[in-house]
Amino acid sequence: MSAPKRNQVVGIDIGSHSIKIAEIDDTKKGLILKNFGMIELPPDAIVEGSIKEMEIVSAALTNLLTNLRIKNKNVATSISGYSVIIKKIEISKKEEEDLEKSIQSEAEQYIPFDIEDVNLDFQIIPSGKKEEEKEEEEGLMEVLLVAAKKDIVEEYISLLHLTGLNPVVLDIDAFALQNAFEISNHEQSGCHALVHIGAQQLTINVINSGVSIFTRDSSYGGVQITSEIQKKLNISYREAEMIKLGAKPIETEKRPLIEEIFTSAVTNWCQEIKRAFDFVASTSPYKIESILLSGGSSLLPGFSRYLGLETGLNIEMLNPYGNLEIKEKLFDTGYLNYIAPQGAVSIGLALRYIGDK
Ligand SMILES: Nc1ncnc2c1ncn2[C@@H]1O[C@H](COP(=O)(O)OP(=O)(O)OP(=O)(O)O)[C@@H](O)[C@H]1O
Ligand SMILES: [Mg+2]
Repeated sequence: MSAPKRNQVVGIDIGSHSIKIAEIDDTKKGLILKNFGMIELPPDAIVEGSIKEMEIVSAALTNLLTNLRIKNKNVATSISGYSVIIKKIEISKKEEEDLEKSIQSEAEQYIPFDIEDVNLDFQIIPSGKKEEEKEEEEGLMEVLLVAAKKDIVEEYISLLHLTGLNPVVLDIDAFALQNAFEISNHEQSGCHALVHIGAQQLTINVINSGVSIFTRDSSYGGVQITSEIQKKLNISYREAEMIKLGAKPIETEKRPLIEEIFTSAVTNWCQEIKRAFDFVASTSPYKIESILLSGGSSLLPGFSRYLGLETGLNIEMLNPYGNLEIKEKLFDTGYLNYIAPQGAVSIGLALRYIGDK
């Protein structure tokens, strides 16, 4: 048996509906899934990406870590939503030497928050063009700018510290998703849209030949449906969630109402996704070839089919286990398949290493 690398981390996706944890061993023989699990959170513990109930979330996280017998304290987590701004900007190549400084001053015009209130990060985007073409350009280079609101970042760091963990990588959901896509067995060449719908977030990342060309987070997700069912039927959140998942039967006369709620959400989500795709079509020369779905709410009955009809694109579920070796005696494969859509972000996080940004 070959030993895993020392600088590996545990991937922890802290979603508003549930925490997902993945551990992957990167060995000479390949990537091996070591651990995977999920625990639900009570509603309102996390709202719009902000941790409202620190103790409750920490206790749930501790439970899951104990159940999975995880020893590694070095963890990678991610944030998403309104507190994260991802922008592609062009800056003069001349400024490359002093990029750190010029980014700071350039960023001010692109970030809708006070620059003092955000943590800034950046990455030079490989141009993918031939050398001769590059020379003809006007000395500009593309830089991916990532700004995250400090107060939200601090909440996640505090939560991990409170739980006795050592946060070594703070990622963005959209990028963790891209990581998961890269180790999946899906076609990597060409242009593909990753669409991830959770409880409160809809994340889109369009990847062209391995490079992200568009990302967007919107406040759409499964909670919309559960809350609407709860309100319309005047029942508890739990009951509404069970009705949504088909785990609790409802009277025949109430079915049209539930269907109307489903249809309205599905229509909303599809419109949002189409708006994003229209933007990609109008700002880049690439044509999206397929959609890869993930996130618990992408399983909503009728959604995938409707999205296919609306976009005319081929839709598949993202399989985050594609290139992972799975030791069958360690896992219940039925359960693994069941939670695969919800696990994509945590799998992507588990692929990070200490020292990654
Ligand atoms: N089979 C299903 N059909 C419809 N909805 C489902 C199904 N399974 C899970 N969901 C919904 O998916 C959501 C949870 O998905 P997920 O775990 O991806 O969200 P999260 O990461 O916790 O939330 P966030 O959006 O804050 O990141 C819940 O709203 C849940 O009701
Ligand atoms: Mg999520």
